[in-house]
Amino acid sequence: MLTDKRILLIIGGGIAAFKSLDLIRRLRERGAWVTPVLTRAGEEFVTPLSVSSLAGEKVYRDLFDLTDEAEMGHIQLSRSADLIVVAPATADLMAKMANGMANDLASTLLLATDTPVLIAPAMNVRMWEHPATRRNVSRLRGDGISVVGPNEGDMACGEFGPGRMSEPLEIVAAIETALAEGPLTGRRVLVTSGPTHEPIDPVRYIANRSSGAQGTAIARALAVMGADVVFVTGPADAERPEGVHVVEVQTAAEMLQAVQAVLPVDAAVFAAAVADWRVASASDSKIKKDKGQIPSMEFAENPDILATVSQMTEGRPRLVVGFAAETDDVIANATAKRLRKGCDWIVANDVSPETGIMGGSENAVTLITEDGAESWPRMGKDEVAHQLAVRIAAALG
Ligand code: C5P
Repeated sequence: MLTDKRILLIIGGGIAAFKSLDLIRRLRERGAWVTPVLTRAGEEFVTPLSVSSLAGEKVYRDLFDLTDEAEMGHIQLSRSADLIVVAPATADLMAKMANGMANDLASTLLLATDTPVLIAPAMNVRMWEHPATRRNVSRLRGDGISVVGPNEGDMACGEFGPGRMSEPLEIVAAIETALAEGPLTGRRVLVTSGPTHEPIDPVRYIANRSSGAQGTAIARALAVMGADVVFVTGPADAERPEGVHVVEVQTAAEMLQAVQAVLPVDAAVFAAAVADWRVASASDSKIKKDKGQIPSMEFAENPDILATVSQMTEGRPRLVVGFAAETDDVIANATAKRLRKGCDWIVANDVSPETGIMGGSENAVTLITEDGAESWPRMGKDEVAHQLAVRIAAALG
């Protein structure tokens, strides 16, 4: 799968840089070409000689190396690869990327490129959890950058938690996903997922029990089949899928806005459990407990994102798929919902508590199309996602 793929590997300055030497070996074993770029800090951890020996190519180090500029300008270097991989991606490198800084070779390449980028973060757990890094990660995901890891475990600095760089083979798998070619290559697909949070005041909100597991699995399955996936998610527990553009939102209104910004797409899958109502005017300050008085709240209806997109007269996706989580008369209710919303397909499931589907790892769905209802056997959410992706690929032709 990686034969003759060109990977531009940027090695940042962190103790995990030693794993990048193994990553080069693993990529070469699979037939990929690796052009290494070593940052100044990276050189403190691995030597240019070991990097270039393993890669079998010259290692690029300095923006102002005029010989290289004559041989290959940084713009060309940044675009000659099929994929740019940053491993380890340090907190500093990520901050530069998130802010569009270009003050050394690595950051300049990353700003100048139009090639997909995958980063493998590695840093101390406190740095990873710092609000600035959280902000940077979410901004980078929004910019379409794929993120693999970090893993949780013992760290070189003696602490424990998330921050360890993914293992070389995990990074190889993420690279394979990012470069995947399949029946959906060249297709752009939108997936909404997770719950929405509708604020009551700055600390309280209305939410639901959606874990985002099924939507995440669908995004992953579509990406594995080569689709360019934009994943618009509410605040869900599920890990964000690799190799997709992630847009994080909180409320239904934000989700609608994000969805409209993503269009046009070839297909759209609406797996989010969007709150039907929001508090009409959320309070700017925390509502105080007032001598036993119960606050009263007025609700307003949220926009129906699925119906809005399904009923677009111009620029409607060719295939719009909705979900229907029901507790009774599943097929009848979902069939009516398909017509009411105007979508092409509905994936219906029974979410009665005794099924264990909501929050569980399995799902039993019925696919409702204009040709009728087709019930699939109970299977893992990953398998449901794969089957649905296969059907989407067939429908888009
Ligand atoms: O009407 P109901 O919530 O049962 O419809 C479920 C389907 O509609 C799901 O596909 C869900 O993602 C979508 N939906 C939406 N916006 C809403 C409510 C539901 O996109 N406000």
